[in-house]
Amino acid sequence: MQRKGIILAGGSGTRLAPITKAISKQLMPIYNKPMIYYPLSTLMLCGIREILVITTPFHKESFMNLLGNGEDLGIRLNYKTQENPDGISQAFIIGENFINNSPVALILGDNLFNGSDLVKKLKIINKKYSKNTIFAFPVNDPERYGVVEFDENSKVINIEEKPKKAKSRYAITGLYFYDKSVVEKAHKIVPSSRGELEITSLNKLYLAENNLNVEIMNRGMAWLDTGTFDSLNQASNYIRILEKRQGLKIGCPYEVAWRNNWISDEKFKESAVKFEKSGYGNYFLDLINEKI
Ligand code: G1P
Repeated sequence: MQRKGIILAGGSGTRLAPITKAISKQLMPIYNKPMIYYPLSTLMLCGIREILVITTPFHKESFMNLLGNGEDLGIRLNYKTQENPDGISQAFIIGENFINNSPVALILGDNLFNGSDLVKKLKIINKKYSKNTIFAFPVNDPERYGVVEFDENSKVINIEEKPKKAKSRYAITGLYFYDKSVVEKAHKIVPSSRGELEITSLNKLYLAENNLNVEIMNRGMAWLDTGTFDSLNQASNYIRILEKRQGLKIGCPYEVAWRNNWISDEKFKESAVKFEKSGYGNYFLDLINEKI
């Protein structure tokens, strides 16, 4: 059974208020793209074509206006809402019918990943439908995240959500691959002290079954945060510098769809016309002509 994908673009974004009073955080630009383009591209790079976008009720229409039904991208997009920011694991309860006993990948709508090895790795992981995989990345401020604890043989023995004192520098990123038992597990979780159905609680259930693979992301990969004004700006600068240098776009779902052969040259050209004035159009046409 093919893996399905979920993008969780709910949440309150309070650390970015007052901007997020008006616009969903995941629709804010990271340099030249709406933030959600990046996680959407990541799922598409894995080879996932059926995706559920979970938004707040207030912002659902804006996401639908932006992304539509996915036809332009050769994928199928579905939409559901999360009434309150009640936790990441709730996505599997909201998406129960959509998941329909398939393996599933969840990505947070504000997580940006980049790195060529990453794509290779993700494609392989995506195909292992019965394997549960999450990623750990070394950071300077692990206390803000789910944090991995290793034993002396580097085996993962625990994950703690936002610990006061982190047991390692390895934070769990917002990209998760699970088997079909994830829905049943999500139903078993109880809210944490901050009132959320934590993704860490879910990961701990898999860990207790000795059924969780924690992949360490190496130096060649980038995992960017967009949770604060500064990190938002840094992410924009990072994307801008790389794109200017390479002349290639990062996190462009149209390009991924075309490279995956999910849309024809003709369809890609139709989007090029739509985006002519912003520079995307010429970029798409150059890709078709140069086959780079
Ligand atoms: C959430 C998860 C945390 C994870 C992080 C990744 O944190 O709870 O385990 O490390 O996403 O971005 P939150 O966004 O709730 O601060």
